[in-house]
Formats: sequence, structure tokens, C-alpha cells
Amino acid sequence: MENVSKNLVDLAALQAEAVRFVDTLAPAEASATLVTLSGELGAGKTSFTQGVASALGISEAVTSPTFVLEKIYELPEDASHGFKRLVHIDAYRLESGRSLPPLGFDELMQDKHNLILLEWPEQVADGLPTVRTRITLEVADTGRNISYA
Ligand SMILES: Nc1ncnc2c1ncn2[C@@H]1O[C@H](COP(=O)(O)OP(=O)(O)OP(=O)(O)O)[C@@H](O)[C@H]1O
Ligand SMILES: [Mg+2]
Repeated sequence: MENVSKNLVDLAALQAEAVRFVDTLAPAEASATLVTLSGELGAGKTSFTQGVASALGISEAVTSPTFVLEKIYELPEDASHGFKRLVHIDAYRLESGRSLPPLGFDELMQDKHNLILLEWPEQVADGLPTVRTRITLEVADTGRNISYA
């Protein structure tokens, strides 16, 4: 994917970018699709996830999993992208990759119908399998900058 930074002038632009991004995804052959979201507190990681959730047809409110660590949303069955579940994890409060298995992370990774969005991947870097896309959000003079790797 492109590795340039793109400016997102406001929240609406950030969520429109999330909709565009989710359109580029499809389930892999064997395992879940893991996307990481990096950036400082308030950079927009949860906001981006909300845009993804809305694009996937999730109607319930998607709130930050900072305290519950992990939330799993079932997707509408008629979805065309091929995913069945959105998993939203916030690793901010985790101390190492050893904290992931107790969340059922390994099993979640084994289901190719799972799309997993993980905030604060740096906290659990030693426990992460292959990442499909690494997203970085940065506060800019106007709005946010986003980059993909
Ligand atoms: N492009 C943008 N321009 C200006 N403000 C934005 C933009 N995108 C998001 N915001 C605002 O920035 C804040 C981002 O909060 P959010 O909870 O998404 O951050 P986060 O990266 O998940 O933080 P945390 O690390 O605490 O989980 C929200 O108040 C949102 O309205
Ligand atoms: Mg967040």
C-alpha cells in the first residue's frame, strides 16, 4: 500500500478515509486480517475504527475498549467484503505480548473471517503475528496525518 502521509482535515475526513481503507481489505487465505493503529493519545485511532465499523454496517455504538481491552462486533450477514466479525483491541494497558493469549487473541487470529483492529501495537509487539497494514495517525497543524505501511 502507499507509504505517503495524507492529511485529514477533520473527523469527517478521517472517517471517510477509514471507509476508503476498508474497501481495500478482503479476508486472507488462512488467518485473520490484522491492522494496527499507532499514534499518541487522542490521535484518532478509535475514531478511525468507528469509521471502519460504520462502513462494515455495525449500527451499535463503537466505544473505546481502553478498559475492557477487547470488543467483538458481529457483522451483518449480507456484507460483501467477506468479514464476519470486527475485533477492536486497545493494548494501551497491556505490558507485553504475553497479555494477548488470555484475550483469546490466538484463536481470533485463526479465523480468516475476523478483521482485527489493534490500538497501541507497540505495547504487545513481541506477541504479534504478521500485520496486514500498519496505520499511523499524527496530530497535524490542521487535523491529522495518516500513513500506511
Ligand atoms: N482529522 C481530525 N481532525 C481533528 N480532530 C480529529 C480528527 N480526527 C479525529 N479527531 C478528534 O480527535 C479525537 C481522537 O480521539 P480518539 O479516541 O479517536 O483517539 P485515540 O487515538 O483512540 O486515543 P487513545 O490512545 O486515547 O485511545 C476525537 O476527539 C476526534 O473527534
Ligand atoms: Mg483509542
